[in-house]
Amino acid sequence: MAATIKKKGYLSVDELKSHGCMPDESRFQQGPVAVLECIQEIPCNPCVDACHYGAIYIGECITDLPQLDTEKCIGCGACIAHCSGLAIFVVDKTHSETTAAVSFPHEYLPLPEKGLIVQGVNRKGEVVCDGKVIRINNAKANDHTPIITLEIPKELADEVRGMKRLPNEPDKHEEPHICQCINGNKEADSDSVIVCRCEEVTAGEIKKAIEQGAETLTGIKRRTRAGMGLCQGRTCSRIVSQMLAQAKNKPVSEIEPDRSRPPVKPVEFGIYGGVDNE
Ligand code: SF4
Ligand code: SF4
Ligand code: FES
Repeated sequence: MAATIKKKGYLSVDELKSHGCMPDESRFQQGPVAVLECIQEIPCNPCVDACHYGAIYIGECITDLPQLDTEKCIGCGACIAHCSGLAIFVVDKTHSETTAAVSFPHEYLPLPEKGLIVQGVNRKGEVVCDGKVIRINNAKANDHTPIITLEIPKELADEVRGMKRLPNEPDKHEEPHICQCINGNKEADSDSVIVCRCEEVTAGEIKKAIEQGAETLTGIKRRTRAGMGLCQGRTCSRIVSQMLAQAKNKPVSEIEPDRSRPPVKPVEFGIYGGVDNE
């Protein structure tokens, strides 16, 4: 396991290269190609089935790391939304003379409009450039994991792996935008939609907690465990706030935020004990 991800939570480009995650520069020059930034040996393989070109393989042991056949990959991006670790990107360094296109999963609302200039962020979450949204793929097959494609300066093609989340629009408070999977999809049984992925808490369970008297995020958390998972509510708390605001008929800004407790990301016990694994 690379040292940086254990200590800092992200990988450096050099570490990705040393793990064979980055296609050769010659392949990048041929057109869009997937970059599988997956280096944890966990039992996981949906990326294999997602690729209809047979470009991703894992082999007999499901904990082996996925390998990409860069000659078979056409850079279609179908694997991006199927990666449970949000670890797959498609990079097109041939987009134009001066720009590259980077496609990444973006599970935040509101979604940007095509043509919007947004802030591109690196693996560390730092803003490194402006980028233009050139594609938003929110197809049903993506199962509510929209894929955003940003046009960015070519020299940052190995760095940019996301965009800064857009702020909520205050004038939309009257009609809280809970989640496309809850509000927008009329075919879905909205109560069965998972809102807290870490603890697998459904929209129906959260609504029930509110009916039972939960007035705050903490109250909902106590009744359902929503927000108590590995991400400590970073994924679900905005949606839960919006559901609570809708139920109480008040703006989200009046919903008291959950109490945040350190650490902000998983930290190895050894770090607290001063153990240096290097
Ligand atoms: S980008 Fe398309 S072709 Fe390439 S690995 Fe992903 S699904 Fe397969
Ligand atoms: S689906 Fe994503 S996390 Fe799972 S093995 Fe494939 S690349 Fe890795
Ligand atoms: S999604 Fe709810 S705690 Fe992680």
